[in-house]
Formats: sequence, C-alpha cells, structure tokens
Amino acid sequence: MQTFHLDELDSTNEHAKRLAMRYPGQSLLVTANRQTAGRGRSGRLWQSPVGGAWFTLVWPIEKPIEHASVIPLLVGWAVLQSVRKVIGATHTLKIKWPNDVLLGDEQLKVAGVLCEQVLPTDHGGAGGGLVVGVGINVNFDQAQLDDDLRCAATTLLSATGRAIELSDLIELCVQHIVAALDGPDRDGLTATTLQQVKTHLAWMNESVCVRSGHRLVKGICHSLDPSGRIQIMVGQQLRLFNAGEVSQLRISSDRTHLPVNAVSSL
Ligand code: BTN
Repeated sequence: MQTFHLDELDSTNEHAKRLAMRYPGQSLLVTANRQTAGRGRSGRLWQSPVGGAWFTLVWPIEKPIEHASVIPLLVGWAVLQSVRKVIGATHTLKIKWPNDVLLGDEQLKVAGVLCEQVLPTDHGGAGGGLVVGVGINVNFDQAQLDDDLRCAATTLLSATGRAIELSDLIELCVQHIVAALDGPDRDGLTATTLQQVKTHLAWMNESVCVRSGHRLVKGICHSLDPSGRIQIMVGQQLRLFNAGEVSQLRISSDRTHLPVNAVSSL
C-alpha cells in the first residue's frame, strides 16, 4: 500500500480521489495532520484540527460489491474495534447506524466515516475503487469544535485522560478495515459479525428517527439485516432502510437528537 502523509490538506478524501487517478488500481493511504475543508456526510463540514486521526484509504475493487450498504457499516465496526483496542474495554462504544462511533454513557460522537466510490470511468476504465474516509477525534480538546458540535462530540483524550499515538491508531484501523473489505462480510454480514454489530448498535429497542432523503421516519429500532440495512418498527410495520441516519428520539421534549455530522455516498 502506498502511503501519503501531509501536514495540511483540504480533505484526505478529495486528495485520495486525485491520487486514485494517478495510481489506478492501487491501494493508497492518505493521512493529514489537519484538514481545511474536511467533509462529513450529507455535504456537511468536518472540523479537523491537529490532534485528530484524519485518513482515507483507497481500496481497488475487482468485482462489484453485491450489497454496497454493508460497506459503511463494516468500516464503522472496524473503527469501533480499533478504538476499543486502544482505549480498553472499560469505555462503552456503540455504532450509530450506519457508521458513527459513539463513546461513553452519554453516547457522544467520537468518529465518523465517509465512504465514496471511484468509478472505473474516472480513470479510463482501469478499475474502480472504494474511497473510505475516517475521522476520529483523538488528542484535542473538544472546546476547539464549534458550539453546535461540541455538546454532542467527544475526543479520546477527554474520555481517557491520556494522549494516544495517532499512527498506531491509524495502523490498527487500516488493518481492521482491509480485513473487513477483503473478508467474507463484504457481500453480506456473516451471522457472527451480524450478532456482534447488533449488540453494539445504539438505541436498540428504543424510539428513533431515521432520516432517509428528505423524509424523517419515527419508530422503534428493531434490528439489522445481513445487508447492513436497519429495521425500524413503524406502527405495526417493520420497515427496512438502506441509507440514512438514525438519531435518538427524545419523546419528552419531542425533539430529535440530531446527528453531529453525518449519509454516506454508498
Ligand atoms: C461523518 O460522520 O459525517 C463522516 C465524517 C468523515 C470525516 C473524515 S476525516 C478524513 C476523511 N476526509 C474527509 O474530508 N472526510 C473524512
């Protein structure tokens, strides 16, 4: 894997896509100390000060992925496992479907994933690839984040009280992500992974809101299917959602706890 590290980039995903044109069919890793135009899901800005793990993996795909909706979930799961290895099992880690990682009893966002695709036509038909961007809030004070994000986000430093070696965390994440993208789960979650992910899903059996396109659907978070789709009980009907965002519904105030950053392009 070719690795590119820069002190400052607009966005590691954008730079990775530029590099993918130069190195078609190759796996690439792009990391930056800070991003000036970091991108979140749904076109949101992703604040990326020094001290975070900001990186993008370009992963060539030889055959089409049958269930693309499984990829963001697999990456989120890989990131959760890597973070757990680094901070230990005493801290609760959950997945906010499809791929945010939430930390602690307050379930504050500590990591997000932005998956995109490089289509074969993008570089003369030489082969397509996945562009997997990961952002983890690690060694900075969340006071550096804008007001609207600060209350719903945390960093590993705030939660654990100790600084973490960024390169070790990125290496672990890359190992887990590559194993997931190359492994048996990529065409549908195996029973073991499905079970593990389900037990780490935030707000299971609780009232949630799913934003799907322009729609906001309220229901009870029921389960996941092997394609990584979420099952929500809406009234008496079990409905499946492919992409979107889940947030917890605070019934008492009838306000949704809107996601911090967040819908992947996959
Ligand atoms: C989200 O939760 O909205 C996804 C955030 C993804 C942020 C990462 S940081 C590294 C990579 N480069 C970007 O511009 N975005 C992703």
